[in-house]
Amino acid sequence: MKALVIGANGQIGKHIVNQLKKSDEHTVRAMVRKEEQAEELKKNGIDAVIANLEGSKKSLVKAAKGCDAVIFTAGSGGSTGADKTLLIDLDGAVKAIEAAEETGVERFVMVSALQANNREKWSEKIRHYYVAKHYADRMLEASNLNYTIVRPGGLLNEDGTGKVHIAGNLDERGFVPREDVAATVIASLSEENTHKQAFDLVSGETAIADSLKNL
Ligand SMILES: NC(=O)c1ccc[n+]([C@@H]2O[C@H](COP(=O)([O-])OP(=O)(O)OC[C@H]3O[C@@H](n4cnc5c(N)ncnc54)[C@H](OP(=O)(O)O)[C@@H]3O)[C@@H](O)[C@H]2O)c1
Repeated sequence: MKALVIGANGQIGKHIVNQLKKSDEHTVRAMVRKEEQAEELKKNGIDAVIANLEGSKKSLVKAAKGCDAVIFTAGSGGSTGADKTLLIDLDGAVKAIEAAEETGVERFVMVSALQANNREKWSEKIRHYYVAKHYADRMLEASNLNYTIVRPGGLLNEDGTGKVHIAGNLDERGFVPREDVAATVIASLSEENTHKQAFDLVSGETAIADSLKNL
């Protein structure tokens, strides 16, 4: 599968791009928003396209042309205001979903957030962020796409262990290395058990492939 990675210059995005580059099964096109980011990727032999989630849907359709899957791991980050959360995490994600539908890309893997599906658990301080994630996920579920929604817990920059805990609805808080989120996203691409599924992801004791098979 050729996967368009939206948010390819991000911390999870970079892991996804590097892991896809090494994959025997998949290839990658990295979507970034700056010329210098694209140049750097191309220097490393990676197909890269420049597009902005605040730009037109048409530019996203163009970016996705020729791909079999879209992986969405972009985000406005914690240092911008609620306006950018709406424009990127919600409207940007929905534009990406619409662009995938329009292009005929059937597979869509969304990096969401733990508890995005659970209003009662939303923290007061970043309620707007959960609202954006929640409704982007709901738009994806309502789309014609063959989706997988991955809801990771707090993200860590330590090395991945390859072992996770995956469940439909986790009650407890948890953390997971970004490297393991990337590996889970990629393993989901071709694991039929994850088709039209949403799940929570934290560190655990089970190998990623086995966790997905037991979903
Ligand atoms: N932080 C947490 O604990 C946590 C927990 C669960 C889930 N998540 C989710 O995990 C995902 C990735 O996290 P991360 O740590 O890898 O985030 P990150 O490092 O902040 O990466 C986000 C990426 O999104 C890109 N982006 C922002 N605005 C864009 C736009 N308008 N058009 C195109 N790309 C844009 C950024 O581009 P630039 O590089 O150009 O800035 C960046 O590369 C996000 O969806 C986040 O909501 C986070």
